[in-house]
Amino acid sequence: MNKIKSPKKSETIMSEIVCPNDTNPMGILQGGKLVQWMDIASAICAQTHAERICVTASIDRVTFKTPAKVGDIITIKAKMTRSFNSSMEIFVQAWAKKILSQKAYLINEAYFTFVALDDNANTTSVPAIKPGTDTEKKEYINALKRKTNLIKTNIDESNTRSN
Ligand SMILES: CC(C)(COP(=O)(O)OP(=O)(O)OC[C@H]1O[C@@H](n2cnc3c(N)ncnc32)[C@H](O)[C@@H]1OP(=O)(O)O)[C@@H](O)C(=O)NCCC(=O)NCCS
Repeated sequence: MNKIKSPKKSETIMSEIVCPNDTNPMGILQGGKLVQWMDIASAICAQTHAERICVTASIDRVTFKTPAKVGDIITIKAKMTRSFNSSMEIFVQAWAKKILSQKAYLINEAYFTFVALDDNANTTSVPAIKPGTDTEKKEYINALKRKTNLIKTNIDESNTRSN
């Protein structure tokens, strides 16, 4: 695969409104629901870039900074930082906006990794990424560091388990 695409091409922005069914008894958006929406936005981003079915391989961390409440508008932005061979790292940010004040605040951000599959469900290569802006270039460099750390952590954990 020798295609090269800009991160802008697959950037995905998605909005939801927090309904009572999405919340706990205090009217606070459930964490699992937010992660589900973030996963959907990043799956759209990955599949748009890869032009293939993609699966979630990992999520780096999920930290809930501030609660969102019933009635808030949630906006999720998913943008590719870098693609490797079959895997792609996507930076996902979520904001909540109060209807009355129109104030928006960041409620979550995480890095998702997706892997592209071919028609036989084997991993397959994806187009490369060409970063354009300074931020995209910085994310592109740091994505390799995160991937290297993730591989190292997986090896360390596997060694700890087998000892
Ligand atoms: C993700 C999955 C396809 C990887 O398959 P695999 O046979 O382990 O693949 P490989 O070891 O050959 O690795 C393939 C790529 O995935 C990456 N990868 C594998 N596991 C990973 C993980 N946990 N986190 C991040 N990247 C991972 C590898 O680094 C490699 O990247 P590269 O091709 O860009 O270098 C497989 O583990 C899987 O199907 N997992 C279940 C996915 C799922 O059910 N998701 C939820 C529903 S969508």
